[in-house]
Amino acid sequence: MRKREAGHLAALFLLITAAFGALTAAAPRPATLIIHADRPGATISKNVYGQFSEHLGSGIYGGIYVGENSPIPNTRGFRNDVISALRELSVPIVRWPGGCFADEYHWRDGIGPTRTTRINTNWGGVPESNEFGTHEFFDFLELIGADAYVNANVGTGSPAEAAQWLEYMTGDQDTTLVRERKANGRDKPWKISIYAIGNETWGCGGNMTAQYYSDLYNQYATFMKTTQNPRPELLASGDSANGSDTRPVFTETLMEKARARLDAISFHYYTILGPRWGDFDTATGFSESGWINMLSQTLRMDGFIKRYDAAMSAIEKQTWAKNPSKPHKKIGLYVDEWGAWYKPEPGTNPGFLVQQNTLRDAIIAAANFNIFHKYAGRVRMTAIAQTVNVLQAMILTDGPRMLLTPTYHVFHMYKPFQNAISLPIELKTGTYKYGKWSVPQLSASAARTGDGAIVIGLANLDPRNTATILAIISDSSARQVNGEILTADAMDAHNTFDDPNLVHPVAFDGAKLANNILTARLPPKSVVVLTLR
Ligand code: AHR
Repeated sequence: MRKREAGHLAALFLLITAAFGALTAAAPRPATLIIHADRPGATISKNVYGQFSEHLGSGIYGGIYVGENSPIPNTRGFRNDVISALRELSVPIVRWPGGCFADEYHWRDGIGPTRTTRINTNWGGVPESNEFGTHEFFDFLELIGADAYVNANVGTGSPAEAAQWLEYMTGDQDTTLVRERKANGRDKPWKISIYAIGNETWGCGGNMTAQYYSDLYNQYATFMKTTQNPRPELLASGDSANGSDTRPVFTETLMEKARARLDAISFHYYTILGPRWGDFDTATGFSESGWINMLSQTLRMDGFIKRYDAAMSAIEKQTWAKNPSKPHKKIGLYVDEWGAWYKPEPGTNPGFLVQQNTLRDAIIAAANFNIFHKYAGRVRMTAIAQTVNVLQAMILTDGPRMLLTPTYHVFHMYKPFQNAISLPIELKTGTYKYGKWSVPQLSASAARTGDGAIVIGLANLDPRNTATILAIISDSSARQVNGEILTADAMDAHNTFDDPNLVHPVAFDGAKLANNILTARLPPKSVVVLTLR
């Protein structure tokens, strides 16, 4: 659709909106959404839907890996129920082994017939058997069909240790390390998509300054050699927005000092009640003020990415100006830890970070996806913390029992966005207010999938009021709309081992499409994904 036509449509749209308002004078004005399908943006990398699995509580042992002799049905020690649920989710990439654990992880502890037991000092102070190591990680990935993001140890490691691990995993020549890998049962090299140099180096990864870490990063990156083609992306450890200082200090320093040797910089932001770290809500049984407070905190992700993106773009522009003829890459901002962080479930080891997962978390997930899609060119990978039994998990297990959380269902509903083309939107929505808090009632994003469909992700943040949406899609020949909705009666509705399907998606019949105008009525506190063909 050309500009003039788009202008006419927008005017027509305003008229329809006004008429709609007049007809239903008592009802609140509908939200309006313009989807610019004629202005395709960047591809939403499938890796935006990545997962993080750390050696933490029952995140791996018990949750993913139970060992071959377990009475829980398994394949080579991996739970069949969890593997099939993760396959169904089309998990694109998994980050491992940490997190804070990564900076005390020595890869040799986890290979071969005899494993080294150490204490997991970060998470619960319990013995770590290292039964799940490099071979088990790649076996797990092959079972679920995901790519590898491996996080190397900087805090207590060395460039030699990280380089040798890389050679062990990806080497294809006749070296002692490659022979050792083969002797341990793996002939072919594995493929690594992302190799990260340290984690949270400003904190648990070594309490470094940005300048010190940038120097160290350059030293490590110099020696990360591999014959893998294409080589793994090298990821530097960046900032977190959970401290009192939310400025992109590590990001800017790395961009200035180490840009030539990195492909992306990580960014962490957990949704907490705040304002201080440690001010956590309960995962269930919260009030409406806890509901809106958490949603308002999660929406801050947009501002953080915007600010970091601008800082990175400014430095990239200077470089381009200096060397206009050289090919330039756009460094990635990888949000490889995000999600809600609550008080641990009563009766659990506080170091295991076990928390329930409710409809509020489903809305948090959808709102973050809608933000990530907007910055698809920069945010080409994210990893929610974490896959199973830890923080905002997809899956909870209890011995042989397993349940899928509301967050799992949102990841499933948003699957069509993986590798789709992000479409710019203009959303005019009302406000949802409660107490001192105020947030937009709706969150939205849109994309064009590989087979030409338009997919729209929507969340109604208001737990009391329905949202009516009037959307116009330029440049679309779609004739029909299908959708799925996730909602429930209570704000803290969640699945339990006795009632594992209380919150699950169902077909959505509240949307109509005629002449490129889409109308939809979103119930309070709901996530809806629509597909237009
Ligand atoms: O995801 C839990 C922990 O949170 C990670 O280990 C660490 O990187 C972050 O602080």
